[in-house]
Amino acid sequence: MQTVFTTDPAEAAEFIKNGGIVAFPTETVYGLGANVFDAAAVAKVFEAKRRPADNPLIVHVARAKQIDQLASEVPRAARILIDTFFPGPLTVVLSKSERVPLIATAGLDTVGARMPRLEIARAFLEACGVPVAAPSANLSGRPSPTTWAAVAEDLDGRIDCILQGPATELGLESTVVDCSGEVPVVLRAGTIPIEQLREVLPTICASADVDQVKRSPGTRHQHYKPAAKVVLISHPEGIERSPGTAYIGLAHSVSPFDFQLVCRDVDDYARSIYEFLRECDRRLIATVYCQEVDESGVGAALMDRLRRAAA
Ligand code: TXA
Ligand code: MG
Repeated sequence: MQTVFTTDPAEAAEFIKNGGIVAFPTETVYGLGANVFDAAAVAKVFEAKRRPADNPLIVHVARAKQIDQLASEVPRAARILIDTFFPGPLTVVLSKSERVPLIATAGLDTVGARMPRLEIARAFLEACGVPVAAPSANLSGRPSPTTWAAVAEDLDGRIDCILQGPATELGLESTVVDCSGEVPVVLRAGTIPIEQLREVLPTICASADVDQVKRSPGTRHQHYKPAAKVVLISHPEGIERSPGTAYIGLAHSVSPFDFQLVCRDVDDYARSIYEFLRECDRRLIATVYCQEVDESGVGAALMDRLRRAAA
């Protein structure tokens, strides 16, 4: 398959309308989208990514009104989150409507809905005219793509089109909150920290408090792993170095690594981590040392991804 590269959201949307699959930018990471109501198109997303069939997709909307096509009901907790954080890096899990095919939700009776805030993403979704089911646009298990070039690295020739936008502003995925049960639960830490969610929804629980496997199937799978070995460290000094080592973190290191990135703050670290891990693979780095960060704010999501990369 010949993949078309374009900067025109309307051109990219034509592929969605014709049952194709399209990678597009958002403020978090690039997604790989299909018309959610077209089960055959959704199947192509799983195939192109080699994604396990038991990992549900997030459905992206251009306007809040479209959530009514996806969900059978929008409970009070979800309404509060939607009113506060949409458009933005938040996914709300709701009981699904009949219209959403089971392939998109991996057989679950719930659906994750998200409204991105990036302008080009909104223009694309608006032009599609339908909600768009989209996981991150990487081969399953690889670090998520934060540039269109990283998407091409994994998926060129496997998908219909890549909508070329900017490098993503946030660099880590959305926070996923399950609002389909009695108590709202964070299933996946993301760029909106739980502290911020608690300001409008004090009852919200962290995922550690619930049966993960039952509630968020995707979190069981291997994720975010480069080919290089990832090792978490508290500080870059005193590391025994062999050839082919890299380092990323907040602290400066006096000892030269073969490749290193010192980030300004945790936000910069979060924005840079996936592309850094990909660059390490391009440079055939054998071991990547990643400095641990404090688990407050976006640090919780960053540590979650670092632990998975190191697992
Ligand atoms: O920022 C993001 O969320 C990006 C951009 C493209 O929007 N998307 C993304 O999708 O990260 P993906 O497929 O890589 O991660 C989706 C996560 C998985 O952990 C999945 O299990 C969970 O959301 N999820 C989706 N629908 C769910 C549902 N109905 N119930 C529980 N978890 C769900
Ligand atoms: Mg993903």
